[in-house]
Amino acid sequence: MIFDEKYTIVENRHISGITWLLRVKAPQLRDAPAGSFAMVRATPDYVYDPMMRRAFAIADIQGDEILLFYDVYGKGTAMLTERKEGETVSILAPLGRNFFPEDHNHYILVGGGIGFAGLSLFMRRLKEKGKSFRAIYGVRRKEQLSMLDWIKENGFENDVIIYTEDGSYGEKGLVTRDLKELIAEYPDTALAVCGPKGMMRAVMEVARETGTPAYLSLEGKMACGFGICIGCVIKDTEKDSYVRVCYEGPVFDGHKIQF
Ligand SMILES: Cc1cc2nc3c(=O)[nH]c(=O)nc-3n(C[C@H](O)[C@H](O)[C@H](O)COP(=O)(O)OP(=O)(O)OC[C@H]3O[C@@H](n4cnc5c(N)ncnc54)[C@H](O)[C@@H]3O)c2cc1C
Ligand code: FES
Repeated sequence: MIFDEKYTIVENRHISGITWLLRVKAPQLRDAPAGSFAMVRATPDYVYDPMMRRAFAIADIQGDEILLFYDVYGKGTAMLTERKEGETVSILAPLGRNFFPEDHNHYILVGGGIGFAGLSLFMRRLKEKGKSFRAIYGVRRKEQLSMLDWIKENGFENDVIIYTEDGSYGEKGLVTRDLKELIAEYPDTALAVCGPKGMMRAVMEVARETGTPAYLSLEGKMACGFGICIGCVIKDTEKDSYVRVCYEGPVFDGHKIQF
């Protein structure tokens, strides 16, 4: 069930670099699927510019509260930073209909930058279910590790390998550096991936070379978020047709799409 509600902001604060954390009290969303997303109205209801809501992954659910980590790029996200604790925020969620499958033996989660927020709830669910997994979190430099505190505070420190391109924290290099070796460690490993397109293409190269199933959570521009504007289509190469990221996704088999 999708809810279109006004929820109370519990916290909206700067984390590091360009990243902010929005925490809202949203009891209706406590069972939102891992991989689902929320369309958030950046402004109070009486302000119509920008009119379109902005899409954010539901990064975590803690009791009655959901957590969204957002990078500030343009008008919408800049205006969102002005929303204060105690105010209400209008959110349409949970959205999406296709999420990460859970039937593989072992998972490697690969998140680049803020894309890690598209995997964090899945990581929590895997851990709760006792499933075997490793996570990779890659950024250019240490200051961009905006989910590091969340990782530590929620007990995932030993589950996540961190890569920085400049070597300022964790392993030096790209998220693909040790991927082949990590894939080879377990039979029936699947990749769950979210991040910039260049990173996802590099991960897909490894997936193709090694014949590894790979599920990509895509984060294109979205206007409606629920299938009616046709603004978020990508090519399904298997069916030779187009699919909507918001409605048929946001998670797709990376071997069957062009993105
Ligand atoms: C399903 C889904 C889940 C998402 N989850 C998250 C999330 O968890 N956290 C998060 O921070 N973002 C997430 N995004 C991306 C987020 O929706 C956009 O960054 C946001 O809508 C930008 O709004 P804006 O008003 O700030 O920027 P706009 O005013 O719309 O754009 C301003 C400028 O920034 C550029 N820009 C916008 N977005 C990005 C981007 N993501 N990367 C690089 N340049 C960009 C635009 O091309 C434009 O030049 C998600 C998107 C989708 C579709
Ligand atoms: S955002 Fe409107 S159809 Fe996907």
